[in-house]
Amino acid sequence: MSMEKTRFFDTQATEAWARAEYADQETDKLRKVMNSAGVLPGVNVFEPGCGTGRLTQLLSHQIGPEGGVVALDMSRGMLEVSRDRLKGAENVSLIMDTIENTNLAPDYFDAVICHNVFHHFNDKIAMLRKTAEILKPQGQFLIYHFLEFSEINNPARKVHDIVCQDLMPPLEQMQSMLRLSGMKMTYYSNDDDGFILRAALADL
Ligand SMILES: C[S@@+](CC[C@H](N)C(=O)[O-])C[C@H]1O[C@@H](n2cnc3c(N)ncnc32)[C@H](O)[C@@H]1O
Repeated sequence: MSMEKTRFFDTQATEAWARAEYADQETDKLRKVMNSAGVLPGVNVFEPGCGTGRLTQLLSHQIGPEGGVVALDMSRGMLEVSRDRLKGAENVSLIMDTIENTNLAPDYFDAVICHNVFHHFNDKIAMLRKTAEILKPQGQFLIYHFLEFSEINNPARKVHDIVCQDLMPPLEQMQSMLRLSGMKMTYYSNDDDGFILRAALADL
């Protein structure tokens, strides 16, 4: 299943939906949402499912030379496009792996950012547990989509059978998954401005 999905994303790396630059309005929204999740100069950010590196580039600018972005994707094709886009970005490291299997330093990241990707992860609890493990005590977890919940899950938007079952869990289920992973939701909004969920470690 995971290999099939990886191959599918490999085929998508040169498609316009995956590599088109953000419109100015989208960039403004992203900057605002990233700021609210603590993506500020000098911090360390982890971005799982970075695709072609569009957000990675923005994160790299936002955190500046004193910060670091670790961006991961399971698709070689997507990472090749990222590598091209991010040539010369010395504060970015790219990793080819699945979020479920990768090993990262515990207690290291100020922010973990999922943009347009959380619903694609096969094992969401494993992803959330990893997030809790690698976040610093004051770190923030963010899930962001330009679209609202019903559009993320709209079957008409699923471009291939392989991603048909990739759904954003309903809010209650999401909260219970966060709890099971040692986190708690700190902010949620779902409207015309998109889907935003922020969480932090539960014992704060
Ligand atoms: C819809 S794209 C979004 C890419 C990027 N976040 C963006 O907004 O442009 C989803 C990406 O997540 C990656 N992905 C999906 N499941 C993954 C997993 N379990 N581990 C690592 N990467 C994964 C895919 O290879 C793909 O590049």
